[in-house]
Amino acid sequence: MSVASAVREDRLWQRHADMAKLGGTPKGGVNRQALSAEDAAARNLLAGWATARGFAIFTDAIGNLFVRRDGTDAKALPVLSGSHMDSQPTGGRFDGMYGVLAAFEALEALEDAGVKTRRPVIAVAWTNEEGSRFQPGAMGSAVFAGHNDLHAMLAVRDWKGVVLKDALAETLKAAPAPLRKGKPGFALDGYVEVHIEQGPRLENEHKTIGVVTAIQGSRRYIVEVTGDEAHAGTTPRAARKDAFHSALRIAAAMYEATTDAEDTLRFTIGRVDVSPGSPNTVPGKAVFTIDMRHPAEAVLEVHEAKLAAIVAAGAAPCIAAIERVTAVAPTNFDPKVIDLVRAKANALKLANMDMPSGAGHDAMHIAKLCPTGMIFVPCERGVSHNESENATPSDLAAGARVLAEVLADLANR
Ligand code: GLV
Ligand code: MN
Ligand code: MN
Repeated sequence: MSVASAVREDRLWQRHADMAKLGGTPKGGVNRQALSAEDAAARNLLAGWATARGFAIFTDAIGNLFVRRDGTDAKALPVLSGSHMDSQPTGGRFDGMYGVLAAFEALEALEDAGVKTRRPVIAVAWTNEEGSRFQPGAMGSAVFAGHNDLHAMLAVRDWKGVVLKDALAETLKAAPAPLRKGKPGFALDGYVEVHIEQGPRLENEHKTIGVVTAIQGSRRYIVEVTGDEAHAGTTPRAARKDAFHSALRIAAAMYEATTDAEDTLRFTIGRVDVSPGSPNTVPGKAVFTIDMRHPAEAVLEVHEAKLAAIVAAGAAPCIAAIERVTAVAPTNFDPKVIDLVRAKANALKLANMDMPSGAGHDAMHIAKLCPTGMIFVPCERGVSHNESENATPSDLAAGARVLAEVLADLANR
């Protein structure tokens, strides 16, 4: 029996259905934000499945959860595969979860096919990839790779003021796993992440597998505008320092400055907080987030300068500041891993195409540590970060088959 043929579509689909109940929303999506009770429940479910199959589980100081299938050579570096189980507040059932469940399915397929590998194969669920509750996103993989400082991340607060360290302690109390002591991170021989595409290209081109070549660069910012609270009924316009009004002018200028003819630059204001949030008080503070992405670092650099100039020029009569929260340079994946993914897709007779990723993934951090690649499968109408996100059982199984073959190959090198 080949490893690919040991991948079971029904088992993989059922695991998605079981996970979708944890944080399931009435509209059919999930709200399973990082380090919530729902995240802890997902960790427990995965850990239970792993233990039942005889795989070892362990966690690290940022809460990344690992499932290990031993190799025959105790000294050989492991091959790693996974993604994330946290979701957007109105997220879908497949973003991230598919990559974790496909990696776990690959471990089970190796086991069922009776394939021994020289290297250990480890499945991972990275902590807080989405970055919607705690910023920055891709946090677990960034700490693992040494790109973000563990202690700085433990001190991060969510929008309600909860400190990440406390939320992590609660999560690990509710979902205990043996702790790998010391700083997160260990040497790896390779990393492969599977994900739904989150865009429409594969579906439009009738391809089952995306051979991912790169991830575009991304930056996130917070803009804080400070004005003065005042009475909405009595304070003349000229005497107001309306923080929302200044934020609105700044935002409008930013949309203008980031509109390009080719529609390549991605600019999103995804969260606006106005306080004190009373209908009859002129807002004293307005805070908004910016997410900006482009395949070329130089373009991000130029536009960062434009955003800073707009904040400086547009704040009056309030004051405003822009702070960069994250900057991740564009990632090019390893040519050998890219070739291997394509070769395995071809061998399985799965229609495929090379493509870059518009979305960010944990793979962008791990690519700095070891040869890394990604595998995409189509999602319905390209919709993601939406509760209606959907994918077919057969496409999910196809991606898991390519992954299982790639991992078996890498783990025997
Ligand atoms: C990941 O969810 C991203 O924002 O690209
Ligand atoms: Mn994701
Ligand atoms: Mn996402």
